[in-house]
This record gives sequence, C-alpha cells and structure tokens, in this order.
Amino acid sequence: MRRIGIGIIGCGNISDAYLKAAPKFPVLDIVGVADINPTAAQAKAEAYGVAAMTIDGLLADPRIAIVLNLTTPQHHVPVGLQAVAQGKHVYSEKPLATTLADAERLVSAAREKGVRVGCAPDTFLGGSHQTARRVIDEGTIGTIVGGSAFMQVAGHELWHPNPDFYYQPGGGPMLDMGPYYLTCLVNLLGPVKSVTGQAKSSYPTRTIGSGPREGQVVTVEVPTHISGLLDFENGAAISITTSFDVWKHEHNHIELYGTTGAMIVSDPNQFQGDIRTSERKGDWTVAEQVHSYGDGNYRILGLADMAQAIVSGREHRANLDLSLHVLEIMESIIRSAEIGQRIDLKHGCARPAPMRADLPFGILE
Ligand SMILES: NC(=O)c1ccc[n+]([C@@H]2O[C@H](COP(=O)([O-])OP(=O)(O)OC[C@H]3O[C@@H](n4cnc5c(N)ncnc54)[C@H](O)[C@@H]3O)[C@@H](O)[C@H]2O)c1
Repeated sequence: MRRIGIGIIGCGNISDAYLKAAPKFPVLDIVGVADINPTAAQAKAEAYGVAAMTIDGLLADPRIAIVLNLTTPQHHVPVGLQAVAQGKHVYSEKPLATTLADAERLVSAAREKGVRVGCAPDTFLGGSHQTARRVIDEGTIGTIVGGSAFMQVAGHELWHPNPDFYYQPGGGPMLDMGPYYLTCLVNLLGPVKSVTGQAKSSYPTRTIGSGPREGQVVTVEVPTHISGLLDFENGAAISITTSFDVWKHEHNHIELYGTTGAMIVSDPNQFQGDIRTSERKGDWTVAEQVHSYGDGNYRILGLADMAQAIVSGREHRANLDLSLHVLEIMESIIRSAEIGQRIDLKHGCARPAPMRADLPFGILE
C-alpha cells in the first residue's frame, strides 16, 4: 500500500497522542519530528523511535508530503505558510488560525501551490459522533428544531503546565474548545447562516496550578465566558456557551431537539461515549455504535483520512472549508458581542461524507 510521509512540527503536550496513535494507521509514515526547542524534539524522537530533525531539514525533506503542525495556535499560520511554501500539504491542530484574516492568507497560499490543508478536530470522525450523524441522517428524531451546546470548565491552568496561550489573543474558551462543539454540530446539521454573541472575562489573572511554573500568574487578555446563538441554514437554532469561568454545572455537552424526538450527544472532545435518543417523550435509549473508532483516543484519524484521501484522490473530511467555517463562526460570535449585532457568515461548507463502516480497523478506503 502507498504510505504518506509525515513530518511533525511541535513536540509538546498533544504530540504524544498523535505519536501513540500513528502506528494504528498503515497509511501514515512518521518520518521525523521537529520543534523550535530541539530538546523537546529529541525527547519525542527517543520515546517513539522516530528521527529528530531541524525545522528547516524537515521542511526540505522530500520524503515528507504532509507537515503535521502541532504548535500552539499563534504559530499555526506562520508554520503552515512555511510548509506550503515548500509545496507540502499541512494538517494543523485546531483552531485553523487565530483570526479569519490569517486563515484566509493560508487558504490563498495553499490554493496557489495546489496543496491540501486539513485541521483538527477529528473527534467527529469517531464512533460516537458518526453514530449521532446516522441518527440525524436516518431521521430518527425528525427535523432539528433547536438545541444547546455547553463547554464550561474552571480553566486549563489547573492542569496545563504552560497555559499562557489559552489567555492570549487567539486563545480563550471559544477558540480553544469551540472547534470540537462547532465541528460536531456542522457535521450533524450543516453550515451556520448567522450568529449573535455575548462575551465577558470574569477574572483579570489566572494562577498556574501544576508543573514547574505552579503559582505563577498569567494575565487574561481575552473573554473567558462566551455565549452564542447559531442560526443554521437548515433552520435549527442552537445556543452554545464556552467558558473557563465555571466551577460546576449539570448541562449535557450537546442536546438536539427534533420534531419527533431528542438526542443527547456525547463529549465532542472524545471519540467514545454513548449517544442517547428518545422517541417523543419516551425513555432515553442508547444508539448502537456505527464503527470501531469509538473506544479510545484516535487523535490522528483526521490526518490518516487526509493521507488516504491524497492516495485515493478524494476530498478529506477534516478539511479546509469546514475548519474555515468553524473559525468564522467563533470569531463572529466574539465580534457580535463587541458590536452588539447579528453577523451573517461569508464562508460556508458542505457536510463531510460520513465515515465508511465496512472497513477493517486502521484502513480508511
Ligand atoms: N494539550 C492538549 O490536551 C490539546 C488537546 C487537543 C488539541 N491541542 C492543541 O494542540 C496544539 C498544541 O497544544 P499543546 O498543548 O501540545 O501545546 P504545548 O505548548 O505543550 O506544545 C507546543 C509545542 O510547539 C512548539 N512550538 C511553538 N511554536 C513553534 C514554532 N514556531 N516552530 C516549531 N515549534 C514550535 C513548542 O516549543 C512546544 O514544544 C494547540 O493548538 C492546542 O490547541 C492540545
């Protein structure tokens, strides 16, 4: 089988998840890893038996077709542009960019070079969220009338050793966690037409809660409690709240209300979790899961799908249009809060094709 060479730039916290899952997907050939901090690259290279490279060496390596960009959000576009300039495809951690204007620069550069851009999250390709997609597509709960999405936590500084980026421009709970919830919703319901928003920051500083910098104070430069109303093209009205200011709550991650029933969707930041549906006022029942990526952490599935799509010449699912649309939704919610007006979106997208349920584990075509 044809394999696609991957070079990873950014060897921090999340790179372990990718490097652990990579061997499960034969289409992926991890050629090497690089980081602005060579010690970080060396550590991952030793831990996972791959080559440590310099950034320039990785970008110039002809064996590498896709650069997997696992740097922090502020670096997604600069590193992406460097990769595109070398004629590489790019798959980035979320969000695609910290501003829509930056994302548009990456889009133009990639289109000019004729290379692909992919972007996390890929959890929507997992068993749970594909099950939710089947529930919608089969009309089990009818036409979606409305719903809600809640991502409310007390702040990543409680566990992340270097949480500064979460509180700087390009961070905040919407840009950080919104991609999971919005990508999941767009996969289920299609694109959003317009948004309104409300946003505030409740605390001027945050204190790092773990690691060598424990006790250090981080200044908050972005809103940390953000609510939006999403007007979907299909007529559904969904509310979303993302917050780093909430100690405790009892909302489900996502609830959708249809004309003949309702659905509770599991955590869109995970591949696994029960999807529960009701027929009208009936009891909740757990839907049978559609395929196998629903029992662990497969954070690389979107990249593997993109690599396979390159081999097969089809569109990849965690694609540029989807991530650009999600970024525009997030930016527009915050902008709407600033100007006190509804915002119509300009970048639409199609729903990605559902995952195939008839293939062996790790094989994507
Ligand atoms: N930590 C998580 O649980 C998690 C989960 C899902 C997604 N993500 C996303 O993954 C990305 C990375 O997050 P993280 O938690 O791993 O961050 P991190 O700070 O732990 O690691 C980022 C790494 O990128 C390197 N880096 C930064 N700029 C660079 C550049 N210009 N060139 C080369 N290397 C550079 C840093 O030296 C660091 O090693 C973010 O976009 C984040 O939103 C993180």
